[in-house]
Amino acid sequence: MSLIKSKKRVADHGEVFTPRWLVEKMLDLVKGETERIDARFLEPACGSGNFLVPVLQRKLAAIEAKFGKSDFERRHYALLALMCCYGIELLADNIAECRANMLEVFADYLIRALAQSGARRRHDHARYERRADQCRGMGLPR
Ligand SMILES: C[S@@+](CC[C@H](N)C(=O)[O-])C[C@H]1O[C@@H](n2cnc3c(N)ncnc32)[C@H](O)[C@@H]1O
Repeated sequence: MSLIKSKKRVADHGEVFTPRWLVEKMLDLVKGETERIDARFLEPACGSGNFLVPVLQRKLAAIEAKFGKSDFERRHYALLALMCCYGIELLADNIAECRANMLEVFADYLIRALAQSGARRRHDHARYERRADQCRGMGLPR
């Protein structure tokens, strides 16, 4: 990705984007906070979300590690993580890009979480059916 959109925007708004590798290095300096789900992050010149997006990704990874087994908690904490990310930006196109980028990460996470919970429900249902069949075969209550 280019680090500038145009020379004019650099001159007018100081718009130069931070490369991902540098963002990751900087976030590593506050690693514990990036993995704390309710730690609040404010980026006062957020551009298209070069810091906010990886912050959200780190929080979601922490949720997966801590609450991966509970669908309710995954969804609940994912929303909390999103609500703890704040940005300020001057240019409307950057605001729209930032929102879209955050939403994409959030939606991808929820879709994956829902797909897994659907698979888990189907697995539980199949297990229940097998158990019911065994009980019926043995003349036992389920
Ligand atoms: C140096 S870029 C940094 C963008 C992003 N934080 C990054 O590191 O990739 C600065 C950003 O601040 C925005 N900006 C400039 N003046 C601003 C102001 N007065 N209030 C809010 N944002 C501003 C620019 O539009 C630009 O997106």
